[in-house]
Amino acid sequence: MRISIQEACQLLDNGDVVAVPTETVYGLAAKASDTNAIAKIFDLKKRPANNPLIVHLSDASQLNDYAKALPKDALKLCDTFWPGPLTLVLEIHLQSIPETARAGLPTVAFRAPQHPLAREIIDAIGPIVAPSANVSGRPSATLPEHVEDDFGKGFPVVDGGSCKTGVESTILLHTHSRWQIVRLGALPADAFTDTLGYTPTIAPTTQSDTIVCPGRLHRHYAPKALLHLHENAYDGSIPVVLGFDDRSYPGANAVLSLGNPQHPEQALARLYATLRQLDALGATDVWVDAKFPSEGLWKTLRERLSRASQAQHTP
Ligand code: TXA
Ligand code: MG
Repeated sequence: MRISIQEACQLLDNGDVVAVPTETVYGLAAKASDTNAIAKIFDLKKRPANNPLIVHLSDASQLNDYAKALPKDALKLCDTFWPGPLTLVLEIHLQSIPETARAGLPTVAFRAPQHPLAREIIDAIGPIVAPSANVSGRPSATLPEHVEDDFGKGFPVVDGGSCKTGVESTILLHTHSRWQIVRLGALPADAFTDTLGYTPTIAPTTQSDTIVCPGRLHRHYAPKALLHLHENAYDGSIPVVLGFDDRSYPGANAVLSLGNPQHPEQALARLYATLRQLDALGATDVWVDAKFPSEGLWKTLRERLSRASQAQHTP
């Protein structure tokens, strides 16, 4: 059910959960202070309780209400990339965010989204928590229809059309005097080089026995079909192909394209909608053309496709 901004604010104020567009993917929003609404998010998404939520702010000044002393260059990163698809994990004053939202961690992930509709909502009602608006494990939602597919036609959605970026924010964590990437996303590693004076590397999954990004442990981004990633030429072994424009897949029955093979932004923007289309086709197995570079945003695409392909097959 499509709702207006005013209706969304009213529902959120009343302790309900609504889907909101961001420039990356749709988010399932609740007021950041509302423990009951936060419980509803975990319930609706079937999200494991150990996977914390991102708090969405209007701007960096709101960090003062939550964060302890900010690590070096945190404000520089905010100045450069907010509003936008960058999330920073910061140590917080424990009482400032409900324990369930942060899954018991002493840190919280923050970002200031760029999408005007998300911003309007946060400006009106204050910070919101918003995980991607999909049932846990499924491809994220980049259209209102995707949200409705996962949560039902009656579920309240603010319609912002198709998400421009189409893949989640990049998440950085400051550890051992450096920022490290704990989730690849819409900003490639080298986007940070000028601001930081170094290029952040990908953090290992655990550090001193602490899990750096709980979401990395979970099944993710997966369509029902099994994805088979190939870097060699198409061999006809699987009739459904996820590929690129201007490439030939002789003998394939169905080819879904991620777009121009020179444009990783385009491939990422189309990725989740295309994975959902594979389900709509009823595909059980898909031959995925993974012949593309491993640098920059291509790295994000490869990571998402690998995660989706490792996922358990759910018939
Ligand atoms: O672009 C995005 O970030 C979207 C839009 C809606 O803003 N949101 C999003 O949220 O992707 P979600 O919940 O689907 O993914 C959040 C990720 C999870 O992998 C979670 O484990 C990680 O952020 N995360 C949250 N809090 C964390 C923390 N304190 N430390 C490390 N990772 C954290
Ligand atoms: Mg998600």
